[in-house]
Amino acid sequence: MTDEGTDESVVRRDRFSGGPARSFLSSLAADRRIFAADLAVDRAHVVMLAECDVIGDDVASEILEALKEIEAAGHDDLPDGEDVHEAIETAVIERIGPDGGKMHTARSRNDEVATCIRYRLREDVREALEATRGLREALLEVADENRETIMPGYTHLQPAQPTTVAHWALSYEAAVRRDTARLLEAYDRINQSPLGGAAFAGTTFEIDRERTAELLGFESVVENSMDAASSRDFLLETIQALSTLATTLSGLAEDVIIFANRGFVSLSDDYASTSSIMPQKKNPDTLELVRAVAGDAAGEVQGLTTTLKGLPRAYNRDLQRATGHAWETVDAVTEATEVAAGAVATADWNEEVLADAAGEGFATATGVADLLAANGVPFRTAHEVVAWAAENGADYDAIEAAAAEILEDDLESCVEPAAVEAALEPAESVASRNSRGGPAPAAVATTLESARADLDADEAALADLAADLEDAAETLRSEVAGYV
Ligand code: ARG
Repeated sequence: MTDEGTDESVVRRDRFSGGPARSFLSSLAADRRIFAADLAVDRAHVVMLAECDVIGDDVASEILEALKEIEAAGHDDLPDGEDVHEAIETAVIERIGPDGGKMHTARSRNDEVATCIRYRLREDVREALEATRGLREALLEVADENRETIMPGYTHLQPAQPTTVAHWALSYEAAVRRDTARLLEAYDRINQSPLGGAAFAGTTFEIDRERTAELLGFESVVENSMDAASSRDFLLETIQALSTLATTLSGLAEDVIIFANRGFVSLSDDYASTSSIMPQKKNPDTLELVRAVAGDAAGEVQGLTTTLKGLPRAYNRDLQRATGHAWETVDAVTEATEVAAGAVATADWNEEVLADAAGEGFATATGVADLLAANGVPFRTAHEVVAWAAENGADYDAIEAAAAEILEDDLESCVEPAAVEAALEPAESVASRNSRGGPAPAAVATTLESARADLDADEAALADLAADLEDAAETLRSEVAGYV
């Protein structure tokens, strides 16, 4: 291509760069987030183009040298442009002349931006995963320290059956573990390179898509070039997983807010606020904000889904407005996860208040019914006996009276009095529920052990992802060093 030809193309692009819609069209400010990603993508592409003899080594050197300067000058120093891709290209051309325009051979901004988003999102999702790791660690710690801390368990927010703080904490750890698995799966599908798909229709140049994927640390390429440029289901899947995590967090936050209200738990001052007028107040504001993030995340999912719905193939500029939903969601949910972890890790569980509350509302009733059933009374009849007792005193004497009323028999003739007394004790009641995954300390010990093993495995997987990216970055650095 002649220099003249390149100049003409710059002139042609200029024709479309002005006008009142200029700032509406431009994503340059928002693209700050993918500035570093774009430089990496440019470098990998230029190295590959030189290796495939699509551009000369001398031109590659000049471009890579210019990119180094542009990186040092930073995003704020970029010339005006419709987006970061155009601005960086302009900055390269400003530095080395028309040959800078060779950087954009065999690609389009369509495959370029898709690659940048995936490149940056990998980093953000790894941070979110790191936050879930921290939260699971905090929950396991609480469980470990509170294997025998008896507390009331609720259904419909009414006292239901006594349980332990450990059992409660492990219930959330299990949920966050699944949230982690969903994010790890989303990561695998983010981690594929669209680069080389060009505008959507591939290219006449003999390029090596696997090489750019390798230099950028992607696991593989997005095979179909039209899919590569158009698809954003990886964004949707990621924020759906984050939204599910945020929903888990909102339940955790709500529980702790209620527990704080009942005096079961005291938040650290670091995770509480006071009132500007009521000096005695200590409010669980951080957890209220965590609870609210679930609403934001659900809204982002809705926004992104609506943007993507019905978009035709291949690239449409609507996609520029899709990306922000992902950044908003990953930032808010990661921060909420970190804050939830901190609040949980630093809270004090008030054992006495919890123990006193554990038996409230005749919460041991199910255990008494189970005991009668274990001694030959059909469970439905046992349920009736204890329900009658609940209405008529909710204690040993009431159970005795209920037996006479409903079984038309002495309580002692069907069950040991000492066993009934024990079933009425919250701690005994908990210890007797030793079924798999149950709250008895022995069952909790088993759950705790497997949860810990799963966390260790996820931690190792996360370290592998980080190592893969670091290796790729090192390879790219050393390949670039061969030219500059
Ligand atoms: N800034 C755009 C985006 O974020 C990428 C540029 C593609 N533009 C285009 N006219 N094909 O999606």
